[in-house]
Amino acid sequence: MTLALLGGSPSLRDPHHFSWPRMTPAHVAAVTGLVEQAELSYYGREGQVAVLEDEWSRRLGRPTLAVTSGTAALHSAFFALGAGPGDEVICPTNTFLATVMPLAQTGARIVLADVEEDTGNIDPRHVEQLVNERTVGVVATHLWGHPCSMDLLQAVVERHGLWLVEDCSHAHGSTFRGQEVGTFGDAAAFSFQSAKLVFAGQGGLLASREAVTHERAVLLGHFRVRAAQDCRSDLARYASTGFGLNYRMHPLAAALAHVSTLQMDELIAMRHERLSRLSQLLGQIPGLVPPVTRDQCTRGAFYGYKLRLQGRWLLPPRDLVVDALRAEGLDVGRPGSAPLHTTAFFTDDDVPVFINREASHARYRPGELPVSERIWDESLSLPTLTFPEDESLVDAYAAAFAKVYGELGALVAKSA
Ligand SMILES: Cc1ncc(COP(=O)(O)O)c(C=O)c1O
Repeated sequence: MTLALLGGSPSLRDPHHFSWPRMTPAHVAAVTGLVEQAELSYYGREGQVAVLEDEWSRRLGRPTLAVTSGTAALHSAFFALGAGPGDEVICPTNTFLATVMPLAQTGARIVLADVEEDTGNIDPRHVEQLVNERTVGVVATHLWGHPCSMDLLQAVVERHGLWLVEDCSHAHGSTFRGQEVGTFGDAAAFSFQSAKLVFAGQGGLLASREAVTHERAVLLGHFRVRAAQDCRSDLARYASTGFGLNYRMHPLAAALAHVSTLQMDELIAMRHERLSRLSQLLGQIPGLVPPVTRDQCTRGAFYGYKLRLQGRWLLPPRDLVVDALRAEGLDVGRPGSAPLHTTAFFTDDDVPVFINREASHARYRPGELPVSERIWDESLSLPTLTFPEDESLVDAYAAAFAKVYGELGALVAKSA
């Protein structure tokens, strides 16, 4: 069958455009009620923010703090755990920038680690090699919902007396040996940005192991009523000023996040049903490697379905493969985040706004963290089909991949 890119008819009559989130009547009702009552800002721990935090604290068994974004949650975690000048923090290179970049605001030095071949998660063995006397902490993203190797990672941080921050922004509800992510580290950050399974529009949440971490995080982004309510230690004396930022979550965002939190387990089950079948079908096509989920792990929110291309799929230029699949009507693309060590912040000799680049982050050359680069090179991003009415799309995606597989030779010829 001739590829649509080369003049044939496309696999899907109408091109597919994935859209998320999907509003339900419960979301609309929650927000409408607040707007009608002009409930648009909180100074204390109250209203929808308290309801949302209670739900997550119940789930994780930890004090939680709703904030304006996942980025704010990560910044609050780094601040609260004391990251500062002279410290080094080891982070995965294969993650969204916000896992790492807030560290640049603390003065700590960012050191990037390579990742595991099958999951793309931070490699505890490389972390171990990077630890030195300046290392104070490790950050781990449960990438695309797959939990990190928590047993190995916890062993490294315990051996060296380091703190551990989990970035759970892709992984709401994921479990490692039956334990939910967000309950392993000293602090855990969640994003509720619009594209996430649990969405607020913009919003995030921090869960802390120790009360003192929670209190310090509260003081970074809150003051007066909220700070006085949450600070039981001597830190309460700073409640009148806080430590300088406003990270208070908007009530409308909290209401949306709360409704989607209540729907989360059902959404996870639906998404897994669609994506498992997609993996089963794509896995039958030579050279396609669907995302693996290791034994004793669950992928929870499964934020992002990344397919690895191998064998004959690597013969034509990657962008031409993407163009061919798109021409068939599929909503596919290269993943959004290149490994961080290949970006200008980490490759430039100098970053003009940072007085001392060497103190703020290590410098890298392409090829230095090879596993992450290989994964990035070979990955395609597919939509996280979720709803029962997406079932026919699962078949359509698999059929289109099979068609393109049969015509890879034509793509090679086109590129010659
Ligand atoms: C892994 C990861 N960490 C952090 C964030 C930052 O979250 P936010 O956009 O809510 O600031 C995101 C996403 O957007 C993310 O994917």
